[in-house]
Amino acid sequence: MNTRKDYIAVFDSGVGGISVLRHLRRVMPGERYLYFGDSANAPYGTKTKEEVKQLTFAAAQTLMERGIKALVVACNTATSAAINDLRAAYPELIVIGIEPALKLAADKFPGGRLCVMATPMTLREEKFAALMHRYDQNCTVYKLPAPGLVELVESGKADSPEMDALLRGLFAPYRGQLDAVVLGCTHYPFAAKAISRVLGEGVTLLDGGDGTARETKRRLKEAELLEEGEGSLTIENSKGDQRLIGLSWDLLR
Ligand code: DGL
Repeated sequence: MNTRKDYIAVFDSGVGGISVLRHLRRVMPGERYLYFGDSANAPYGTKTKEEVKQLTFAAAQTLMERGIKALVVACNTATSAAINDLRAAYPELIVIGIEPALKLAADKFPGGRLCVMATPMTLREEKFAALMHRYDQNCTVYKLPAPGLVELVESGKADSPEMDALLRGLFAPYRGQLDAVVLGCTHYPFAAKAISRVLGEGVTLLDGGDGTARETKRRLKEAELLEEGEGSLTIENSKGDQRLIGLSWDLLR
C-alpha cells in the first residue's frame, strides 16, 4: 500500500542519474525523492551482465525497505541488465528504466547520421540490438562504447582537459560526419560542453532524461500517486564519501 510519504527512488551506478533527477524535479516538483548512487561499485558499464543485475537488485531491495512508490532506474546499463527481472520481482511497484534516446534522434533527423555513445555493456546487450534494429534501416547508426568517461565524471572532471583529450580520441573517426549524438549513459550529459567543444556546436546532443521523467509522471498519474505538496530530496551514496554527496548537489544545479 503506497502512502503520501512514499518516495520516488532514483538509482544509478553513481552520480550520473542526477542528470535524470533534474528532469524529474522539473516535471514533478511536488514529490519526495530519494536518490541513491552506487559509486562504491561504479563503473557498471565494464562489468558483466550478471554482476550489474546483482548490484541493481541489491540497491532495489534496500530502497524498497525505505517505502517507495516508484523506482526510476536512471542508468542505461542497469536498465539493459535488469529491468525485465525487476518488473517481474516487484509487480506492484512502478519501475521505469532509462534507454538511449535513439527514437528521439531518428525522429529529429530522418535518414540522419547518428552516433549512440554508451557504456560497453549497454551497447552489447540484446535490448540495445532490438532498439537499433528499429532505426538502422532509415538512419546510419554508429555505436560508440565510451569507457573512461564515467570515471572522469565521478571524479568531478566532466568539464576538463582530461575529458577533452579522451573525447578527441573517441570521436576522431566521426568528426564532420554526424548529425546527432545520443548520450546513452546518464553520466554523459555532464560532459555535454566538452563533447560540443570537440564535435562543434552543429552536432545535436540528445538524451533520454526528459522522456524518462515524463513517462514516470504519466505512470504515477495513471496510478493516482502524483503528489503536489512541498517536494523534498535526499541524496545518498554507497561510497559514504562527502565529496560525492557534494558533487551530486553541485551537478543538480
Ligand atoms: N550511468 C550509467 C548509465 O547510464 C552507467 C555508468 C557506469 O558505467 O557505471 O549507463
